Amino acid sequence: MSRTTMVAGNWKMNKNYQEGRDLVKSIVERLQPTDTKVVLCTPFVHLNSVAASIKDISNLYLGAQNCHQEASGAYTGEISTAMIKSVGADYVIIGHSERRKYFGEDDALLAQKVKAALESGLKPIFCCGEELSVREAGTQNDLVAEQVKAALFDLSEEQFAEVVIAYEPVWAIGTGKTASPEQAQEMHKHIRSLIADQYGAERADLTTILYGGSVKPKNAKEIFGQPDVDGGLIGGASLKADDFVAIVDSTL
Ligand code: PGA
Repeated sequence: MSRTTMVAGNWKMNKNYQEGRDLVKSIVERLQPTDTKVVLCTPFVHLNSVAASIKDISNLYLGAQNCHQEASGAYTGEISTAMIKSVGADYVIIGHSERRKYFGEDDALLAQKVKAALESGLKPIFCCGEELSVREAGTQNDLVAEQVKAALFDLSEEQFAEVVIAYEPVWAIGTGKTASPEQAQEMHKHIRSLIADQYGAERADLTTILYGGSVKPKNAKEIFGQPDVDGGLIGGASLKADDFVAIVDSTL
C-alpha cells in the first residue's frame, strides 16, 4: 500500500448556487483521469447539487468546511456531521485557521468535532499551522505538535487511519506568500514523525499530509514534489477551474 495523493479545494464563503454549479461543471470538463483524489469542499448550500454532479466521476469527492460537534439538537444555524454525510459528502475540513481565529475554535472543541465526523463516517481534513509570530520565534514545531496531539492522538488506530492532515502556515494563507518547499517538507516530516511515535511507522507512512497556503499552478509542482508532501488544500486557486485543474495536474 502506498499513501494517497490528494488535492482538496476549499471554496470558503464564495460562489452563489449557480456559480457553484458552473464551477463544478468546468472542473469536471477539464479533469483528466487521475489517481489523485480530488475533493471539493464547498459551502453547505452547494453540497447536494455538487454531489449529484460528481457522482459518476471516480476520484472526485465532496467535503464540507465545518461541522458541529453534537449529533443533533437545539443548535440554531448549525449543521451536524450526519447531515453532511447524508447528502453524499465524504470529507469535512476541521480546524481551519479561519475557524480558529474568527470563531474561537480551540483544540478541545476540534477534538470533539474530529470524533463527531468519524462517528458519522466522514473523513476529517484536519488543519494545523502556526501564525507568523510563532514562526519568527522558531517554535512552530512545538505549536503544530500541540495542535495535532490535542485533536487527533486520542483516536484509536482505526479512527486515525481515516484522517487527512493539512499543514497550513497561517502567514501563507491568502497572502500570496508560500512556504518554501524546504519549509513545507521540514514541517511535514515533523508531523509524520509525531504520527510514527503515536501510531507506528507504518501508519505514519500511509498518512496523507497536505500543504495549504497560496498554492498556485506555478508553485504546486515544486511543493508537491517534496517527499513528505502528499498534495494540497487550495483556497483562492480552487475558485477558478483552470487553476484548480492545473494544480491537480501537477500531481501527475
Ligand atoms: P489559499 O487558502 O490557497 O487561498 O492561501 C488555503 C486555505 O486556506 O485552505
